[in-house]
Amino acid sequence: MISTRVAAHGPRVSKQASAQLIETLNGLSTSGAGLRPTFVAVHHIQLSAAPQRPFSNTSKSSRIDEFFPQNETDRVRKTPPAWAHPIYSYDDMESVVVAHREAKTRSDKLALVAVKALRWGLDLATGYKHDKAVALNEKDPEAARKKYAMTEEKYMIRNVFLESVAGVPGMVAGMLRHLHSMRRMKRDNGWIESLLEESYNERMHLLTFLKMSEPGWFMRFLVLGAQGVWCNALFFAYLISPRTVHRFVGYLEEEAVLTYTRQLKDLDAGRLPKWEKLQAPQIAIDYWKMPENSRSMRDLILYIRADESKHREVNHTFANLDQVEDPNPYVSEYKDNERPHPRKDLKFQRPTGWERSDII
Ligand SMILES: [Fe+2]
Ligand SMILES: [Fe+2]
Repeated sequence: MISTRVAAHGPRVSKQASAQLIETLNGLSTSGAGLRPTFVAVHHIQLSAAPQRPFSNTSKSSRIDEFFPQNETDRVRKTPPAWAHPIYSYDDMESVVVAHREAKTRSDKLALVAVKALRWGLDLATGYKHDKAVALNEKDPEAARKKYAMTEEKYMIRNVFLESVAGVPGMVAGMLRHLHSMRRMKRDNGWIESLLEESYNERMHLLTFLKMSEPGWFMRFLVLGAQGVWCNALFFAYLISPRTVHRFVGYLEEEAVLTYTRQLKDLDAGRLPKWEKLQAPQIAIDYWKMPENSRSMRDLILYIRADESKHREVNHTFANLDQVEDPNPYVSEYKDNERPHPRKDLKFQRPTGWERSDII
């Protein structure tokens, strides 16, 4: 359960919302707009009429502050991000595309099947049926909206859950390579840095979404369970075949790019009205260094989608490299700097990853 707040002023949960929650938990909800009652219950908080940035942590009147406050001490002014985010241009972010790398080897195919299975499970859990919705929408838009519409709340549930598990693979892989380097007394060639940076970036996505929504106990339970299984599964999988895990993450990130692209399309088509005037929270403005006048929810999704496209590229590239000997091309200095090569920003995008022969 996650309660998604669209400007939270006033009582935490209205009586009406409480009654709806109880009904929903009992499987008695008559609201067709909600998610499957056994998985999540969403209760809306009244939309504020205040035109200011309702999710910003700069607004002391916002209840979001109470849920997710920044620690203040007598002497510390600010704690900046450990990894400064590269600057993305608007054009580069708009040029991010949905892409798929063909599964060529047996390891690739195994990774792809695992991702498809996970996607199916998550779609079922979050009531995400985009293709069916589009098909029905062509015949009967009103019926499609009632039956399948992805609302702001449903997308937010999905985003919070996805981002809470997305930060695990980079940390597990980075930790294992760190231990491997010390155990074998060998250099790591710069991989650990990018892997930890990726998990840090995913956690920033999560923290940003948590400025806009408050997970309830059921969502927390799901995240706890998922993390327990997920973290251990990745740990053993990475010990057995790091290449397969990087390919797996590459395919997972393909899905993330797809999901955020759909959110952008729905937003542009006017299907997510609550997000149209929404401003990015301060934590996001600081982290991505979002320019003035480009701090809307749409801009925020553009930044996050661009990050996912970078994770997609990095992990597909890592899967193409020699896992033990090759340097991390994303932190390397090149003999010929003019020639396109992997970078942390979006200058040379390769959605399906760089081939080893192109860079090493
Ligand atoms: Fe993410
Ligand atoms: Fe990602």
